[in-house]
Amino acid sequence: MTLVKLQKVMNNEIAKRVFLSRPPEPPPEYLVNDPTNSIFVGITKLFGAPFSWSFANLTNPHIAVVGITGAGKSYFVKTFLLRASYIWKANAIIIDWAGEYNGWVKQSGGKIVSLGKGDFINIMDLSGMKPLDRTKQIMTSLDILTDLGNYPEQKRLTEEALEQAYVNAGFPLAEVPDQSKEAPTIKDVIYLLDEKVQEGTYQYPFELENAVFRLRQFAREGEDYFAKKSTVDMGRLSSSGLVDIDLSGLPDEKFRALAALFILQSLKEKMRMEGWNAAKGIKAFVVLDEAWKIAQDERSDAITVVREGRKYQFGLIVASQNPTDINEQIFSNVGTTIMLRIKFEKFMDFLQGSLNFSDHIRSEISKFAVGQAAIDMSFQTSVQFPEVFVLDRVIGEIPLNMYSITTVEILTQEEMVNPDIKKEFSFERNDLRSRMIQYNIGAAAINSMLAALDEKNRFGDIRLVVEVLVRHGVDRNTVIEWFRSIGMNDEIIARLFIK
Ligand SMILES: Nc1ncnc2c1ncn2[C@@H]1O[C@H](COP(=O)(O)OP(=O)(O)OP(=O)(O)O)[C@@H](O)[C@H]1O
Ligand SMILES: [Mg+2]
Repeated sequence: MTLVKLQKVMNNEIAKRVFLSRPPEPPPEYLVNDPTNSIFVGITKLFGAPFSWSFANLTNPHIAVVGITGAGKSYFVKTFLLRASYIWKANAIIIDWAGEYNGWVKQSGGKIVSLGKGDFINIMDLSGMKPLDRTKQIMTSLDILTDLGNYPEQKRLTEEALEQAYVNAGFPLAEVPDQSKEAPTIKDVIYLLDEKVQEGTYQYPFELENAVFRLRQFAREGEDYFAKKSTVDMGRLSSSGLVDIDLSGLPDEKFRALAALFILQSLKEKMRMEGWNAAKGIKAFVVLDEAWKIAQDERSDAITVVREGRKYQFGLIVASQNPTDINEQIFSNVGTTIMLRIKFEKFMDFLQGSLNFSDHIRSEISKFAVGQAAIDMSFQTSVQFPEVFVLDRVIGEIPLNMYSITTVEILTQEEMVNPDIKKEFSFERNDLRSRMIQYNIGAAAINSMLAALDEKNRFGDIRLVVEVLVRHGVDRNTVIEWFRSIGMNDEIIARLFIK
């Protein structure tokens, strides 16, 4: 028995056979769209096609963006939002965990909502929803953010008190609310529960006290960001141009997540009431950057919105440094995934597992420079080509005030040639400033550092930066933490301080 058999074949027969597998790039008709109805992103690496994004042929308009710190996630998001507003007049709501977009939104003429620094939202506001539905949403948020789910009795008490507060304020539970009436707040709910405590007749006083305690953390004087009359009109958020909801002023992750959940819920409800209409296109993009707490939990609306695909008139953009922080359902359901540089094998395994791209693409992703990206799109109809392709670079509005800090002077020969070690850290001036402010580095230190870099044509040695910061009394740990935050590796940071 032979394993190989020779065969006579005609020329035309050979021509029909596919000898080479298709090149790893979708054909141009899938990448190049009508410029008046799509968003230009960049040039493809293989064939140099101008890729413009449109969701017309995609399963849905939602987008996931991943990449290590400094890879270009926020840059992509900003570029994308600006063009979406030119092309589709799309509004944008950025749920801004670290206040990272604040400066840019101000510059672009958008609105800033600073929760914890003057702005409040009343999480009991109805914006057109029936009190019963809003109560359910608040219960879900508390479930995600606190341990309420473990205590059925406390859950029941809390839910009943929420409903009672609505009834007392004159809102029938199952009816569309009267817009002229003012919604109750969590303080009213606590009051009702407190009354029950005072009466002293409730069978399980301990449960009652704990229910009060849990709610009170969101209503303490000075920390009652969600228990006061709203300064933000949720109903109009999705038609207000560019809005940055800066959550960096809230005291901790729990508060930030509660705000983010509330905003998503409200937007989703608003869009549900308006319904999907293919002719209308996208009304708004909602951005969740580093909001892992709410991109992870199955019960979060971030997951529901992506899973329900095209049901709403808005696109969700979820960005994260760490793909394993994002619920896998997001990756398996979004229409588009943008992968910027990724370093960790674990993250790469996770992405390759859910998006199923080739080892060739995998090795490209690990070598990307700033702004280079691999893009995965899932089309509505099945296609005969690989869905992941490489973009030479995300082409955005070129920032004018770029500053670079270089580590080359302190690297070993071996490190110099190692592509895994980043040698240059570049930032736009405002971006650099806000990244340092986040680490509580004082204005004087930052200004001196910028001035020192200006003298070097905005391209300075890392040791110069350390010297200026230390001279201004910035303590060593802060400097270390900050360098870590921009993606510098520990060994190099340590060396910096020995030298
Ligand atoms: N495609 C690009 N072209 C030119 N500059 C870019 C590009 N992408 C990013 N940059 C610049 O690189 C720097 C880092 O980018 P960006 O802030 O978008 O990173 P990031 O992935 O959001 O990081 P982090 O996770 O720390 O927020 C910025 O100063 C930005 O202006
Ligand atoms: Mg960012």
